[in-house]
Parts: sequence; structure tokens; C-alpha cells
Amino acid sequence: MTRRVRTAVFPVAGLGTRFLPATKAMPKEMLTVVDRPVIQYAVDEAREAGIEHFVFVTGRNKGVIEDHFDRQYELEQTLEIRGKTEALLELQRDLPSAGRTSFTRQQEPLGLGHAVWCARELVGDQPFALLLPDMVFMAKPGVLKQMMATYEETGGNIIGVEEVDPADVSSYGIVARGSGPDAGFRITGMVEKPSPQEAPSNLFISGRYILQPEIFSLLSEQTKGAGGEIQLTDAMQIMIRSQMFTGVKYEGKVFDCGSKIGFLTANVAFALDRPDISEDFRKATRNLGLGIDGDYLG
Ligand code: UTP
Repeated sequence: MTRRVRTAVFPVAGLGTRFLPATKAMPKEMLTVVDRPVIQYAVDEAREAGIEHFVFVTGRNKGVIEDHFDRQYELEQTLEIRGKTEALLELQRDLPSAGRTSFTRQQEPLGLGHAVWCARELVGDQPFALLLPDMVFMAKPGVLKQMMATYEETGGNIIGVEEVDPADVSSYGIVARGSGPDAGFRITGMVEKPSPQEAPSNLFISGRYILQPEIFSLLSEQTKGAGGEIQLTDAMQIMIRSQMFTGVKYEGKVFDCGSKIGFLTANVAFALDRPDISEDFRKATRNLGLGIDGDYLG
């Protein structure tokens, strides 16, 4: 019997230096893809996968994320008085229920591994999902839900992966693929930001994980790795010696909204995918001679 995954961790304490000056006073997780903050996509994906407890690891300047997941009575009242029922219902739908969110602070941005470690007391001794919110997915069902289906069969640790151009492997964590189908294959190793020559495959770790709680003690022993940060991949690399890691090459596509190009592409792709605006958006770009003619095909 595998232990159910009830809790998800969202690390949102990074500095977002690739997005300055936008992220000087505003967290990058609040940048919007069409009209929804990036963090909302990750929370929606977690909820679709059955997550009940949402743990945010925040940092300086991130208070607005906490506000985003709280009720805004004045706004709700105004929407009600103005008869904007649909907008009101959407706001209410987006919120996890009362008591289902927790916030903790990473006091210094020492890296993703350190941010995850900061969630240890809130997660406790149970498996948990980890979602990097600046990775936004277009996938049906959602990527975490696809990974949960595999987890129910295999247990252990699960990592979502996608193919990347072999020339770009040095920007990502890359896994070595063992036997098994796309929906659940054995991961035999992993390496953070390898050169194209060292990379064991072109399957990159795209920001969705299901992890067993033993990762926390490994993270507490970590020193700084690639980029001078405490790396999650380094801790997973040690854990793979004693625990099973399964890769899921999910159906869908990731947009790295922590990078300018990924973020801009996501906005175009999601706008084309939205029935309420896609036609007008296409028309507007045509009028400008930008020529976005087709549908987004995923
Ligand atoms: P990134 O490396 O993409 O975030 O981390 P960053 O450091 O904010 O970005 P740049 O490179 O400076 O532009 C992936 C995720 O991990 C979180 C980030 O908030 C992001 O969601 N993170 C990263 C932390 O919570 N703490 C850290 O110390 C580093």
C-alpha cells in the first residue's frame, strides 16, 4: 500500500533575477499568464490531483502571495453589488478552503533544496508533492494528476520529465532513463546542469515531483552545489541509492515562466487556448501584422 499524498509544497522564495525589474517589488509567481497569476496554475493543478494541504515557502516581498490566497471581503462585496457574479464565483473557486494553506519563510534564498528543507516541519513524516510554480503546464489531465496515477502503482519517488533540445541540457536537471514505459520508467541517475557531453539523456526535470520525507534529512546535510545553491537534485542523487525513483514522461508541455521567452510564449499559447478570448486575440495580432493564425496545438 502506498501512502496517500495529501500535501504539496510550493517554493516561492527565489529572487527572480531573470525578470528584473518586474520582480524588484513583486514576486515572479504573481506575474500573470493571461489573467491568472502563475502560482494559481500550480495550485489548481495540485487541487486537481487531490492535494488537500498547500504549503508555501515564501521570502521577503512575497506577502502578496499570502493575500492572493485569502478572501477579499470588500472586493467580493463590490462585485456582488455590481452583479459581477461570474467574477465573484471565480475568485471563490480559486481559493483553497480555510485552514488548508500554510506559509513558512526561507530567510535567505540559498537555493531550491534549502527552500524545500524549510517546509520539513509543515510536511512532517509523509510523502509530499513539490511544484515549482514558475513552471506552468498545458496538460490534460494535469501533470501532477498523471504522476499520481503512476505513484499509486509504484509508490516511492516520482519525477515528471519532458524532452529538451540536446543542445540545451546544461540549463536543466537531467535524468538517466532505465527500463519501463513513458508513464513510469526507472530513473537510474540524475545530474544538475550537465554539459551536452555528460548528459545521460535529454529528459529534463521540469518542476513536478512526488517525494518521500527522507529527502529532508539528506537536504539538511547538503552543502552548496552547482551555482553556489543548495541543490535538490544533489540530495535526490544520494537518495536514489536507497529508494526507487520513477520517471513520468507526461502528456503535455511546460512553459518556463521564470524566463522571459517561456513567459511570453505561455501567454500566447494560453490566450490561443482560451475560448473566451482566442478569436479576438488572433484578430488583434492579425491587425498588427503579427500573424498568429493557427490554433495552439500543444
Ligand atoms: P529558480 O532558480 O527558477 O528561481 O527556482 P529564482 O532563483 O527566483 O530565479 P532567477 O534565476 O533568479 O531568475 C525555481 C523555484 O524555486 C524557488 C523559486 O521561487 C522558484 O519557484 N526558489 C529558488 C526558492 O524558493 N528559494 C531559493 O533559494 C531558490
